[in-house]
Amino acid sequence: MTATETSRPPALWLRDNCPCADCRDPRNGQKLFQITDLPEGLAVGEVREDMPTADGRPGREVVWEPDGHRSVYPADWLAAHAPGAGGPPHPGDGRTEADKELWTAADLRGRLPEASWDAYIGDRRVREGTLESVSRLGFALLRGVPPRDRMVLDVARTFGFVRETNYGELFEVRVEADPNNLAFTRARITPHTDNPYRDPVPTLQLLHCLNNEARGGDSGLVDGFHAAALLRAQDPDAFAVLTRVPVEFAFADARTELRAHRPLIDVDGLGRVREIRFNNRSIGTLHQPAPVVEEFYAAYRRFAELLLRPALQLDFRLTPGDCLVFDNTRLLHARTAFAESGARHLQGAYADLDGLLSTLAVLRREGNRS
Ligand code: OGA
Ligand code: ZN
Ligand code: ZN
Repeated sequence: MTATETSRPPALWLRDNCPCADCRDPRNGQKLFQITDLPEGLAVGEVREDMPTADGRPGREVVWEPDGHRSVYPADWLAAHAPGAGGPPHPGDGRTEADKELWTAADLRGRLPEASWDAYIGDRRVREGTLESVSRLGFALLRGVPPRDRMVLDVARTFGFVRETNYGELFEVRVEADPNNLAFTRARITPHTDNPYRDPVPTLQLLHCLNNEARGGDSGLVDGFHAAALLRAQDPDAFAVLTRVPVEFAFADARTELRAHRPLIDVDGLGRVREIRFNNRSIGTLHQPAPVVEEFYAAYRRFAELLLRPALQLDFRLTPGDCLVFDNTRLLHARTAFAESGARHLQGAYADLDGLLSTLAVLRREGNRS
């Protein structure tokens, strides 16, 4: 950025970012004023370049009209943040396709993002790399996590907070006599995101394998952001329909009745893919005018054909001690059917990306300091 671009940022923006101790509490950096507290007709008065900041870094001083307030901005802060003349860049928020590495199964064959539990616990760089994989690729696989009851909760607590739901703090994925969910049978489960009937949806899921002696019961992951990008390239109208039409997802059992109305593909204000919801088991009845229903079903089918393409699905098998951590707003997960004989038992839990991304940011901050 050139000096002229940083020298005349919009006045309100500049004043709103004043770092002085009257404007921000020095103990926590929190803002001490309302936008309505700023005087009408605010304008930059005198400017002095090469004015050092309180901690001696190169800075620029601004004296404000009409109230005479003084601000000193660090020069490197202005260079990094000032809106350019060509309009502000649009940095990602870490959650959209703009900040992800999209993949197909072939891209990851032989290079699964995995780490041993001991290394993850013992080495902060391994922890950082693992969380970074969840953020960038949508998942990581921890190996050698002690196959103990409730251990999945300890895994979640290494980076964030467990999201308790009607299924409890954790859920048991094993064959049940009277299952309230097809996951708790031996049936094949096709690629899906979990709990689309919840708003907010759990943004992270963990599956910890305690036992997998059954024939079958293999796992699969699909990058839903990649499938959405393919749909947009092949059929932009279908993509647009799926970002627009709210779809009801529902779950009910004796004690619970959950419902959420969200599109299958959620995009941010710039049209970037941010959240996928896809679950053929819990999708409800669409209530829309007939023409919308027609275009929705055509688009839904196109999207499903992409998501169910074998080339997109990474196949692997969980063995006892494996714990998969994945982004439930991006990846779809699946499992094959399994046979009558042989036990299979996973424990699952939900958590959220905000906590994981916070832990990752702190690890990076500490890593930069050392
Ligand atoms: C689930 C699920 C996958 C599996 O419980 O949500 O999709 O491998 N389980 O059993
Ligand atoms: Zn100030
Ligand atoms: Zn699931």
